[in-house]
Amino acid sequence: MAILLPGGAGYIGSHTAVELLNSGRDIVIIDNFANSKPEVLDKIRKITGKDFKFYEMDYANEKELEKVFSENKIEAVMNFAGYKAVGESVKEPIMYYQNNIGGCVAILKVMKKFGCKKFIFSSSATVYGDPKVIPITEECEIGGTTNPYGTTKLFIEQILKDVYASDNSMDICILRYFNPVGAHSSGLIGEEPQGIPNNLMPYIVRVAAGILPELSVFGNDYNTPDGTGVRDYIHVVDLAKGHVKALEKLDKENKGLYIYNLGTGTGYSVLDMVKAFESSTGKEVKYKIAPRRAGDIASCYADPKKAKEELGWVAEKNLEDMCKDSWNYIQNSQKM
Ligand code: UD1
Repeated sequence: MAILLPGGAGYIGSHTAVELLNSGRDIVIIDNFANSKPEVLDKIRKITGKDFKFYEMDYANEKELEKVFSENKIEAVMNFAGYKAVGESVKEPIMYYQNNIGGCVAILKVMKKFGCKKFIFSSSATVYGDPKVIPITEECEIGGTTNPYGTTKLFIEQILKDVYASDNSMDICILRYFNPVGAHSSGLIGEEPQGIPNNLMPYIVRVAAGILPELSVFGNDYNTPDGTGVRDYIHVVDLAKGHVKALEKLDKENKGLYIYNLGTGTGYSVLDMVKAFESSTGKEVKYKIAPRRAGDIASCYADPKKAKEELGWVAEKNLEDMCKDSWNYIQNSQKM
């Protein structure tokens, strides 16, 4: 029996592949390398000393998905495939809806055909829009997403709720990620944004490495302790371990629809991140204060209590680990 990982060569998928293999699970990865590289597969093998099957294909291709399901005993699917660039989603909404929603629907259709019931979905804190209450619990209202990328996450959550309502023997877990950062401690796998990064941590590491001249801090007039935006940054290895725990929960319950926040519960501002990066790595991060970025909110951090109580999961790595591992990865990847 194997766990199918569409998008398993990507940032979060590859770290989860490592944790699944380390916990003794068999996996099958499918990826079309739209936003990842083939070398990642061998790096996963190198880190874990374990092998797995791989299919190069589009996860929305039902015929090929059926082939994967008929050639392997798939007991669960963890869907990491999908586009994730917020700005691009505003310019290319149709592409985002087609790929993210179409791909997910194709997987659910083929799962149904093959009687596969367990599904873990990579959702995002973005489904909470501008949260009315923080820290954010899973019971907080969702909606009010500010871009098509976020709306694909919201719509897929609704699709999963409808699928579960139609078939209560399904075993579904929705994981709402806060802000994933960091990299595997081996320095072999990490985040590889294409072009100039939009997200904070990849930008900081490129300024520290001299690849980009300076960081623009998007606004210092928010209602936060230092005026800059506050987020819940979570180490990608902690996030990956959350998936292993979610799978154990589905194994135990055997049916149900569960929703968990995966965050640390602590918010850090943009300037906190700059200072933490400098003190963890000894590298300077030049920055300037710039206007607010459209669609940004002041503060967003999780109440992670439900995941602790029901999954027995807590984020263990701290900000220093996140900064050091991000820095280690970019230094390594430049040598490779
Ligand atoms: C964004 C997306 C979210 C997505 C996540 C992926 C929105 C509203 N949210 O989250 O849907 O799941 O990325 O990780 O777009 N910042 C700077 N300078 C920069 C980059 C960022 O000051 O060059 C600030 C931002 O204003 C924000 C914080 O850093 O306060 C974090 O930004 P970012 O890493 O882009 O994540 P989010 O916007 O929280």
